[in-house]
Amino acid sequence: MTDKQPAPDGILRLINGYWATGVLGAAAGHSLFTHLEDGADTAARLAGRAGISERGAQTLLDGLVSIGLAELRDGAYRNTAEASAFLVEGRPADLSGLARLKLKHMGNLVSLPEVVRVGGPVADAAVEVADNPHWGEVVPAIAAQSVPAAEVAADVLRLADAGEISILDVGGGSGIYSAVWLRRNPAARSTQLDWAPINAIARRLVAERGVADRFSCVDGDFHTTDFGTAAHDVALYSHIAHQEGPRENVAVFTRLRKALKPGGALVVCDYVVEDDRSGPAFPLLFASEMLLKSKQGGTWRRSDYHAWLTEAGFEDISFHSAPPATLVIARQ
Ligand SMILES: C[S@@+](CC[C@H](N)C(=O)[O-])C[C@H]1O[C@@H](n2cnc3c(N)ncnc32)[C@H](O)[C@@H]1O
Repeated sequence: MTDKQPAPDGILRLINGYWATGVLGAAAGHSLFTHLEDGADTAARLAGRAGISERGAQTLLDGLVSIGLAELRDGAYRNTAEASAFLVEGRPADLSGLARLKLKHMGNLVSLPEVVRVGGPVADAAVEVADNPHWGEVVPAIAAQSVPAAEVAADVLRLADAGEISILDVGGGSGIYSAVWLRRNPAARSTQLDWAPINAIARRLVAERGVADRFSCVDGDFHTTDFGTAAHDVALYSHIAHQEGPRENVAVFTRLRKALKPGGALVVCDYVVEDDRSGPAFPLLFASEMLLKSKQGGTWRRSDYHAWLTEAGFEDISFHSAPPATLVIARQ
């Protein structure tokens, strides 16, 4: 017999996947990655810096080694390169807030079997409630995640050399795209449309990045707020399409086309799946998040975006990888 028998290890790792979410969220909650980066390299030192028990610190360190976020050499612990880049507080790509938030959200998954049975949320559809405080927690936590995608889009559109352009960011959240793009192009201006409390967060975060003087906000629901006519050079719709149904996306794309100047570009950023739904892995799994939280959302296929944008009158539609997301760029 040469055929390898299947082993249960992989399935056991998945069944207990919440251990990883817990260890990562708790370590981020106690700033362990930041303390490790600052040289606290034993359980005792970490416990002292973080104000936690030594037993707890050792348990988290064991867990972090297990999931590949800490390394142990000669009795001293340190962050792996990934943890150092993405989990140390204050770094531009810091995801530690997202790790803390996801630990809080973990309990929601208990309702997934029922959500799957009925085909949608069993509590309020989080993404459809106007002014939902949910967003106040989510948008600062996901900001860092959008930095690489914002950089890719800036390169594709050559924003740095685009001169005095006007940008409209629909559902801009933290304002992260505006912050990245306005820093790239000192002559650009950006307007974000979002709920009032979220715009207040965006104003603060954009100011921290030093470009608040060219950033303005419109408070309101993007389904009903006028986007204007031939007013903008670039429009952005990032991580919104997945919360909306097909009809709503076509309606917004149609209004955005009208809002763009001739030749203007629409940038859609989202978790896009292949037409045969064979991958990529991250967007496929993200679909369950939308089943839990939205009545009509989902992870849409490339062909969906192509058809919707074409129906809305866009041309020159192209797809650009910004893992785990995809950028869809279309011209007016
Ligand atoms: C997943 S976040 C994306 C934020 C940002 N575009 C990004 O990529 O990081 C969704 C954003 O859309 C906003 N939003 C959702 N529904 C909205 C609506 N109907 N009108 C205005 N803003 C809305 C939320 O407040 C939140 O800021």
